[in-house]
Amino acid sequence: MSGFVSTDYDLFLDGTIRHLKRLKAMGTRYVAVNTEILNALSTPLPRRRSTSPPPDVPLTGPLVPNTIDRPRAGSGQQAEPSGSDRVSKLASNPQPITPSEPQAKETKEAAMETLRKEVLACQICPHLARARQQVVFGVGNVHADLMFVGEAPGADEDEQGEPFVGKAGQLLTRIIQAMGLSRDLVYIGNILKCRPDTPGQTSGNRKPTPEEMQTCLPHLIRQIEIIQPKVLVALGATAVEGLLGKTIGITKLRGNFREYRGIPVMPTYHPAYLLRNQSLATKREVWEDMLQVMEKIGLPISEKQRKFFLKS
Ligand code: URA
Ligand code: URA
Repeated sequence: MSGFVSTDYDLFLDGTIRHLKRLKAMGTRYVAVNTEILNALSTPLPRRRSTSPPPDVPLTGPLVPNTIDRPRAGSGQQAEPSGSDRVSKLASNPQPITPSEPQAKETKEAAMETLRKEVLACQICPHLARARQQVVFGVGNVHADLMFVGEAPGADEDEQGEPFVGKAGQLLTRIIQAMGLSRDLVYIGNILKCRPDTPGQTSGNRKPTPEEMQTCLPHLIRQIEIIQPKVLVALGATAVEGLLGKTIGITKLRGNFREYRGIPVMPTYHPAYLLRNQSLATKREVWEDMLQVMEKIGLPISEKQRKFFLKS
């Protein structure tokens, strides 16, 4: 190939290679490749406006994190329930999240920015790349102790390029504020970075397919590896399935910490579910989950906060 290769194309190729390596490390043995994907891979994207020099994408970093352990307050207290839970193929690899070598050298900001550029150029799911208005990468603080994981962007998120900005998102924002935090003190991401397409429909959402989840999950895992939050909150059944590989009901799972590679995960209801079930009891359930999260992180909790959504 000539020297005429665009930055976007380099990023896309680098990202694809890293992504495939990561899928392989997670146990994936086959990826579906059709003519369309092969054509996309062999066609450099048109060069866009003059851009800055290509960022240095670390391609040779270890896929498996090293073993420098970071102490984690309170982790490992909660015993994992027995192996009777059904675990789907999405169950992720068991290594604890620890700084990988390239990341130890660069700042979290730089690592996240590199990843963001890669993910914004992602074309691995051609049907989603074609249908999307924007990739919805994730938003918030790379140094956050707390990271929320949702399912996938909806129409509002696809339009604005930011997760949880629609109706459900506004409720999530209020929950975060009730905890004494704000959106820019936490990190918010999704299992899928693209809106699930709904061909032939002008509105409505659909659940991500298992293939879409498995394909996109490495992006989220990289985000978690960079941030290394103290606690993850899995919002709803899809987030739980993506992070924990569990397909048992969120109603049974919520309220008890699990672990994702050494990080405590609190499964709770998705805010969209809360919007449909506005009973005081359901709100209190989510709030009790958040109180546990606050305790785990060591956030101050006032007497007033403890009583939110209790019958007076
Ligand atoms: N629902 C999600 O799961 N994620 C979003 O970003 C918005 C709505
Ligand atoms: N069912 C879901 O899929 N998510 C929820 O949050 C609650 C019920």
